[in-house]
Amino acid sequence: VGNKITTTHQQSLTQTQSKTLKVNASFKVAILGAAGGIGQPLSLLIKMSPLVSDLHLYDIANVKGVAADLSHCNTPSKVQDFTGNNELSNCLKDIDIVVIPAGIPRKPGMTRDDLFNINANIVKSLVEAVADNSPNAFIHIISNPVNSTVPIAAEILKQKGVYNPKKLFGVTTLDVVRANTFVAQKKNLKLIDVDVPVIGGHAGITILPLLSKMKPNVSFTDDEIEELSVRIQNGGTEVVEAKAGAGSATLSMAYAAARFVESCLRALDGDSDVYECAFVESEITELPFFASRVKIGREGVEGVVSSDLEGLSEYEKKGLEALKGELKGSIEKGVAFANKEK
Ligand code: NAI
Repeated sequence: VGNKITTTHQQSLTQTQSKTLKVNASFKVAILGAAGGIGQPLSLLIKMSPLVSDLHLYDIANVKGVAADLSHCNTPSKVQDFTGNNELSNCLKDIDIVVIPAGIPRKPGMTRDDLFNINANIVKSLVEAVADNSPNAFIHIISNPVNSTVPIAAEILKQKGVYNPKKLFGVTTLDVVRANTFVAQKKNLKLIDVDVPVIGGHAGITILPLLSKMKPNVSFTDDEIEELSVRIQNGGTEVVEAKAGAGSATLSMAYAAARFVESCLRALDGDSDVYECAFVESEITELPFFASRVKIGREGVEGVVSSDLEGLSEYEKKGLEALKGELKGSIEKGVAFANKEK
């Protein structure tokens, strides 16, 4: 979507975060699936944002207590709980950003695609409600498989006549967060300086970290590139196995999703220097959706950083070609689901 950005002048989030923010609590955020493993800590982190005036929490279960608990924090936003289909439309009225972490997580041995049957239906029904009640909101899809749930959301929004590709985002921030952490550890770098773009999609080999494009400019041996890339791709599975049946990443995911929400809030508030990786409709490759760095502004995606795909290392070029088949299949599966169910 939007213009391709070829400038090499992009500030990393760590740099832009340190700029002084205008404190203006005026944005409304809704979280659908707010009582879940991700939803609860994400709600807490968003409750801490000085830019949020209203925080609407929706879930099919247990959301009243989460909202009561959070509402006691003395930060500006007003917290309200909503549950059941009847309350969903009120939850979504006048909302600026809708975040969707509703759905089941992985257990050991599962791929993200194994979640498709259940989560596809959940995302479909929630996005239908978003289309009816807050068609102008930024929509952040966390529910997996993101490579399919984002295309599903796009199709549903098209069916409802309100699709704006600039405002639909698959949240891949956790891949960037993991990449920054693992690379900084491996190379003994100060985390504040590290920014690794991660492109492609959000599952297995479709997650492609671009170590050749990271800041600061660091050199790696072939073994280091292989080890780091594979660890970043399997970061989610590392957590799923450690939790041994009790779910997937929730705390690091909440942290990553809160960073992405905060970036979008800053963009909505007029910061003209907001860049994040996200899975969006894109012309950067021949695939209809692709994760890459995007510039975010008041109206959503202002452009993709196409220069990230120029001058890739041999390892990255191979990774890019290898991921296209799987990503294409996942996108098509989502599109077919949304249209079969019409
Ligand atoms: P969880 O099971 O702890 O929470 C899910 C919540 O969604 C529950 O509170 C449940 O009641 C709620 N829910 C289910 N159906 C709903 C509906 N129709 N409307 C509203 N709420 C509904 O799961 P967890 O750990 O929070 O994970 C949520 C999703 O996030 C999973 O699909 C998981 O795979 C995905 N995920 C995505 C990541 C990413 O990087 N994009 C990283 C980690 C997880």
